[in-house]
Amino acid sequence: MCRYCFQPMVIQPIAVARRGGFMRREISFVLNGTIHHSSGCAGDMTLLDWLRYQPHLRGTKQGCGEGDCGACTVSIARPDAKGNLVYRPVNACILFMGMVNGAAIRTVEGLATCGNQLHPVQEAMVKNDASQCGFCTPGFVMTLYTAYQNSSGLAPEEVDDTIAGNLCRCTGYRPIVAAAASLNDTGYENRHNDDLDLLLGLDSGQDVCCDKDGSQFMVPATSASFAKLYAEHPDATIIGGATDVGLWVTKQHRKLEKMIWTGGVAGFDAINDDGDFIRINPAVTHQQLLSYVAEDLPQCAELLRRFGALQVRSSGTVCGNIANASPIGDLPPVLISLNGAVELTKGGTSRLVKLENFFLDYGKQDRKVGEFVSALLIPKGTKPNLRCYKISKRFDQDISAVMLAADLEIIDGMMEGVRLAFGGMAGIPKRASHAEAALAGNPLDIAHFKKAGAALADDFTPMSDMRGSARYRLLTAQNLLVKYGLELISGKQMRLAGQGLAASLDGW
Ligand SMILES: Cc1cc2nc3c(=O)[nH]c(=O)nc-3n(C[C@H](O)[C@H](O)[C@H](O)COP(=O)(O)OP(=O)(O)OC[C@H]3O[C@@H](n4cnc5c(N)ncnc54)[C@H](O)[C@@H]3O)c2cc1C
Ligand code: FES
Ligand code: FES
Repeated sequence: MCRYCFQPMVIQPIAVARRGGFMRREISFVLNGTIHHSSGCAGDMTLLDWLRYQPHLRGTKQGCGEGDCGACTVSIARPDAKGNLVYRPVNACILFMGMVNGAAIRTVEGLATCGNQLHPVQEAMVKNDASQCGFCTPGFVMTLYTAYQNSSGLAPEEVDDTIAGNLCRCTGYRPIVAAAASLNDTGYENRHNDDLDLLLGLDSGQDVCCDKDGSQFMVPATSASFAKLYAEHPDATIIGGATDVGLWVTKQHRKLEKMIWTGGVAGFDAINDDGDFIRINPAVTHQQLLSYVAEDLPQCAELLRRFGALQVRSSGTVCGNIANASPIGDLPPVLISLNGAVELTKGGTSRLVKLENFFLDYGKQDRKVGEFVSALLIPKGTKPNLRCYKISKRFDQDISAVMLAADLEIIDGMMEGVRLAFGGMAGIPKRASHAEAALAGNPLDIAHFKKAGAALADDFTPMSDMRGSARYRLLTAQNLLVKYGLELISGKQMRLAGQGLAASLDGW
């Protein structure tokens, strides 16, 4: 009997028929140190709803229900390629149950040991008076727990970035930051070593699904079964990190009948070195990419640091940010400026499309029925003149109103290979061909950047919406171009906020 849902722990294999085989209708995971099998779960059930239906697991809170506040944060861990557990903080409110298959989850109930000895993270919160009403506290504790587990503590300079996705209305952040900063001195102790052994005992190598109430969530285990399943069900919604799709369910109350997840596929979470290219597979998260490009493309890493907050970056995928075709997604402009390409696969056939040609019109991409984004390819190499400017109302956890990613080379004193890609200026992420022409072949001086700014009026007729008026967008884009010129000419970067990572990257 499971101590949470009082269902039998060993469930008879139940299978749903699919053409060419059977898929087990049961997911398996480790929850707070106990192996758990769950069947009869609707495909669109979120982890938060599931937890809160269990009698003893209501510490995880629902605040916004859309990934913004962090009250629902839990820890989810999987072994990496070297066999070490990697812990991620995730927003349980927008994570579907099928996405925990094969993972070790910890909720706030699973931290203290049996004798009620608090975990060091909890101790730190108590000692620093870091909680008042307590509503946000489980979320903060779980975010800090994941950082503690991954880094054997938490370096003080990492604190702000770590908790940027957790909101507190009443305590004030000073004591919470103090509690987090104190973790570096507590002496690291991993009390949850057993999770890895328990996970290795689970059979996560086969296709499974959650299927109930007319909603099915398929979790293929191999790239072959993913391709086959998607070819059989081209009407299924592909799920990467569900940081967009989760909100279709929790906010728009849409009923999703069929979903297929990239995250359970072996190898889909890898970034490969493909000779001339970096290959980003479908389940690679923003946080993974941030770590990977930190040295070679620090400007891109700096942008990624401002992508949502840690919970969103730990679930959301790079391919999902391309496939959702948002005109204000942060990654398309930078990947276009880097001359990236998208690989589309249907069944056993793949084709490559330059990313700048992939976006056709608002909500329309060069993607045929049955094709999925199987990878993004970025040419390798450092880019000293690449800059990314994200303009949003807040530093963290906000979508851009305007975004510029710019790159060029200086050859014999002249600007060449100019690539200026904007987000938020049209129905799709797009290059500014008139502005590029105003720079290309000219010397690096501010007059040409001003001319390029003026040419933007020929490139774009931006729209007005709640994030900014058309006039604001055009003027901002023009000013960003001038700023780009000033930064290149002076060799300095101009930033008003968020000097954390920027300061540590000084000199790039
Ligand atoms: C709180 C919050 C903050 C956010 N902040 C930002 C931000 O700062 N910048 C930003 O750009 N976005 C932001 N987003 C939006 C979102 O996180 C990103 O767009 C993210 O990259 C989506 O990726 P995903 O894997 O979660 O996509 P999902 O939600 O899983 O899917 C999104 C869409 O892409 C499709 N899809 C996913 N993977 C594939 C694939 N491999 N092939 C074909 N189709 C696929 C899905 O079917 C769906 O239509 C934020 C979202 C939240 C909730
Ligand atoms: S409830 Fe706010 S992020 Fe989940
Ligand atoms: S302690 Fe009340 S919201 Fe944070």
